[in-house]
Parts: sequence; C-alpha cells; structure tokens
Amino acid sequence: MILLDGKKLRNLMADSLKSAVAEYLQENTAPQPKLAIVQVGDLPVSKAYINQKKLFAERIGAKVLHKIHPDKVSETELIEEIKKLNKNKSVHGIIVQLPIPDELDKQKIIDTIDPIKDVDGLTATNIKRLWTNDERTVLPATALGVISLLQHYDIEIEGKKAVVVGRSTLVGKPIALALLRENATVTICHRLTKNLEEETRRADILVAAAGSEHLITKDHVKAGQVIIDVGINFTKEEHMVGDVDFEAVKDIVAAISPVPGGVGPMTVSSLFHNLVEAWKTQN
Ligand SMILES: NC(=O)c1ccc[n+]([C@@H]2O[C@H](COP(=O)([O-])OP(=O)(O)OC[C@H]3O[C@@H](n4cnc5c(N)ncnc54)[C@H](OP(=O)(O)O)[C@@H]3O)[C@@H](O)[C@H]2O)c1
Repeated sequence: MILLDGKKLRNLMADSLKSAVAEYLQENTAPQPKLAIVQVGDLPVSKAYINQKKLFAERIGAKVLHKIHPDKVSETELIEEIKKLNKNKSVHGIIVQLPIPDELDKQKIIDTIDPIKDVDGLTATNIKRLWTNDERTVLPATALGVISLLQHYDIEIEGKKAVVVGRSTLVGKPIALALLRENATVTICHRLTKNLEEETRRADILVAAAGSEHLITKDHVKAGQVIIDVGINFTKEEHMVGDVDFEAVKDIVAAISPVPGGVGPMTVSSLFHNLVEAWKTQN
C-alpha cells in the first residue's frame, strides 16, 4: 500500500512557493503576498486552522491580515469589511474562515469578495467558472489538494471511475467537479444513496468527504483502489480521525491518504498556491 503523504507534499509545496515568491520579488517591485482572513467568533477549531495558515505564510514569505469579529457581528458590517479589503491594494487574497454563525448569509458574504482575490474559489463567479470549465477557475483549496496529491503520486485520473461520498457546496461538489475536469467518470454519493457499499466498491478512486467517523469500512473497498480521506472528525478522546477506517482498509487498497497528515496539510498549501497566483495576477 502506498501512503499518500500530504505532509511531505505540503513541505515540498512550501519550498517551491517560497522560491517562487523570492524570485518574483527579486525581479519585480511588489509588496509581499498578503492573505486577509475574516473570522467570526472564536471557535477553537478555527483558531487552530488560522494558526496553521499563519505558520505556512511565514514559511513562504507571505503575510496574513487577521480580522476577528464577535459572534454577533452584522452581515452589513462583514460586507463592509470585505469591500474595504477588496479595495486594499496590499491585500491579494481574502477568505472567510468557515464555519460562521448560521444567522449570517454565508454565500452572500463570500460573494462580496472580489473574484480576483477569491483564493478559496468559493464566490459564485468562481463556482460558475469551475462549472463551465473556464480556464480562469480557482480550484477550492480542498479540491486542489486532492488533485495535487493524486498527481504527485502519479495516479492517473483520466478515464478512471471516481466516487465522491459527500455533496456539500464547499467540499464534495468542488472535488467531484475537479475530478470531472481531469476527465474521471464521477459518481457523487450522499445520505440517500442506496447501497453505498456497492457504489464505493465500484470506484478506482474513492474520495470520502462526509464528515462521518469511519463511515468507510473494509466492506466499502476493494483491492487496487486509491482512497482519499477528506473527513476530519474528532473522537470522544479528542483524536482526529477521518471518514475511512484506515486500519481496516489499509491492507486491502493500493493507496490511501491518512488523517491526520493527508488532505488537511494539502488544503493549506493549496490555499497559498492560489494566493501566490492571485498576487502575481494583481501586480
Ligand atoms: N481535509 C480538509 O482540508 C478539509 C477541508 C474541509 C472540510 N473537511 C472535512 O470534510 C468533511 C465534509 O465536510 P463538509 O463541509 O462537506 O460537510 P457537510 O456539509 O456536513 O456535508 C457532508 C456530506 O456528506 C454526506 N454524508 C454524511 N454522512 C453520510 C453517510 N452516512 N452516507 C453518505 N453520505 C453522507 C452528506 O449527505 P447529504 O447531502 O445527503 O446530507 C453531505 O453531502 C468534514 O469532516 C470536514 O471537516 C476537511
């Protein structure tokens, strides 16, 4: 079994982004790339993710502008904040750290981000670009992370049967569309899918993005498959685990990404890949 090591690839991506930033700054008069992170509330998990982003930024020579708002912030205030960041020439990428409270209209807030600064690829403009196979598409970080991981390990996507478990707008659907863009034949599964085991066993590439601890067992897989585990779940003992029962399937499948250490680190490096591209376009 091949372990699809996202941490290792994240580190390689950090080195290459660091060189790309340094080289560009040598050849051009430009400010350092800067990512604005808009946070609402103080969820511990958001804090941990933002810290990872700050550490990665430091590694590659980028900056982070962290804007924290209380839980009770109004939609109008957030929209005004994003409009200011759109105009701020020293900011090249803007993300809203999710989740945000349910009372706020998430898509309306995200859609305020200027598409050129939308490094999470979640504005309606970017989603449409992904949908229409537009070459200006910014792949959402998790989807880009999944594709990069597969490509790094020379796993062929074209013509393969890919099954994605999960159909959320933020994770499952962008991953499915990204795989389709790479010419896989894609099936999307969800809670109402009949006979999930049968569907997942049909896959050459199985992506689990359900947010359900150990949903994928040995009965859902078959020999030769490549498994990408996007899920991040926490056990009662606060251990991070994926959607796949890693121990149960690792000796059956051909390749698998672990949790932690798989798609998670790739999501961070992919976000900064998008930031560096956006920075170059804006200079
Ligand atoms: N690794 C990373 O960098 C990264 C980044 C983002 C998110 N994540 C993780 O990815 C997971 C999914 O996130 P999300 O935001 O997409 O979650 P979500 O909005 O809750 O969506 C979960 C999706 O999975 C489906 N699902 C849930 N349980 C299922 C089951 N038992 N059988 C079949 N389908 C099932 C749901 O189906 P229905 O539509 O029918 O309800 C839904 O479409 C979470 O664990 C999240 O933490 C990881």
